[in-house]
Amino acid sequence: MWKGRFSQPTADLVQKYGESVSYDWKLYKHDIAGSIAHAGAQLRAGMLTEEEFASIRDGLLSVQADIEAGNFIWSQELEDVHMNIESELTRRIGAAGAKLHTARSRNDQVATDTRLYCRAEIDATVELLHDMQRALVTKAAEYAETMIPGYTHLQRAQPVTVGHHLLAYVEMLDRDVSRLLDCRRRLNVSPLGSGAIAGSTICLDRVGIAEELGFDAVTENSMDAIADRDYIMEMLFALAVVGTHLSRLSEDLILWCSAEFGYATLSDAHTTGSSLMPQKKNPDVCELTRGKTGRLYGNLTAVMVAVKGLPLTYNRDLQEDKEPLFDSVATVQLALRVNAEMVAAMKINTARTQAAVSDPMLLATDLADYLVRRGVPFRSAHSLVGRAVALSVESGTPLNELTLAQYTEISPEYGADVHEVFNLERAFALRTNPGAPNAANTARRLAFWQEKLA
Ligand code: ARG
Repeated sequence: MWKGRFSQPTADLVQKYGESVSYDWKLYKHDIAGSIAHAGAQLRAGMLTEEEFASIRDGLLSVQADIEAGNFIWSQELEDVHMNIESELTRRIGAAGAKLHTARSRNDQVATDTRLYCRAEIDATVELLHDMQRALVTKAAEYAETMIPGYTHLQRAQPVTVGHHLLAYVEMLDRDVSRLLDCRRRLNVSPLGSGAIAGSTICLDRVGIAEELGFDAVTENSMDAIADRDYIMEMLFALAVVGTHLSRLSEDLILWCSAEFGYATLSDAHTTGSSLMPQKKNPDVCELTRGKTGRLYGNLTAVMVAVKGLPLTYNRDLQEDKEPLFDSVATVQLALRVNAEMVAAMKINTARTQAAVSDPMLLATDLADYLVRRGVPFRSAHSLVGRAVALSVESGTPLNELTLAQYTEISPEYGADVHEVFNLERAFALRTNPGAPNAANTARRLAFWQEKLA
């Protein structure tokens, strides 16, 4: 494509080193859409006849059909998806094909294609996030009132419910959706017409092209448009956060599936065995999700580091943006699919959760609140309960089985009704504020998500 000023062919190793078609072929659909819109503007500018435009459009669509049928032969010598498609078009339709690249560079072309790719993949990822949320909401509804210990520092803290716990992840994934949509809004501007760096003396209708491609606007600075990869970093960040959320869920489920916790059982279809130990049933999906999240951070870091030292505008370093982007998209999408399936098939072992949540220590804070309601300042109440906890630990008597006399010996502020504190139903019912794990809140939030995700 640039042979005019060169007297030697490109060395084989340079071709191998520089080719991107082995992965950027994935942009073909967006590349073709961009080219058809570009040709449309050339037609409107009187630079193509109707016949030429039609043969470009039909030629590009026939290339697309061949790619999708698996009949297209990608050539490494042609470096990337853009040159492969353009050269095949020209081979098929002749002279008109050679006019297509007027007022366009691969620099604005790749920026356009990548934005279109990100936009489409954000939409697909949002759908998958919704599927994952649906799986969590369904499971949360099934175990809305199944009580379990909540943990801080992985030490038993206060009682919550499986419903409340799983709905926490639904909230996280909702922020992921909004982060991705926010990124989508910012990236949806058309760089086409920025040329290699400084636009073109041949002025095509940029706004018309943008409209045809579904962009909300055109970029305002040709140099920025060529050099900008913010949208890729933003998208990689948003995907890395999705990974973080799935990874934390994975960690919860790994713990829940251990014999030590025993709260959950994953289906046989979503676990693996051991080649040696016949009894094993391993939560590999969770571990893989946790492990792959490291890759997502790596991909974000790779692009940020690749871009940070680049002078304006295009530098070939920017070609290194695509593999991390494609990898994060594929990794997160597959993770969402498999996790949604796994959560849908998961069972909670209510005998185990019930036994664990019956630990009266989980209500030590409620006991302090009880003293507060009787007029004791919280700091004193905390210490009076601490003494009861110490007595319980020393004497081996569960906190709810200390006698009234033992309580009143610690402090006369403890009343005859002290043991009522250890009623779990009551403990949940007292938490009436929004956001707390009471049955009404959980039901309300479940209904909210069920409607939103319907
Ligand atoms: N394959 C290139 C990339 O992904 C396209 C742009 C190439 N432009 C250039 N002047 N070499 O970045």
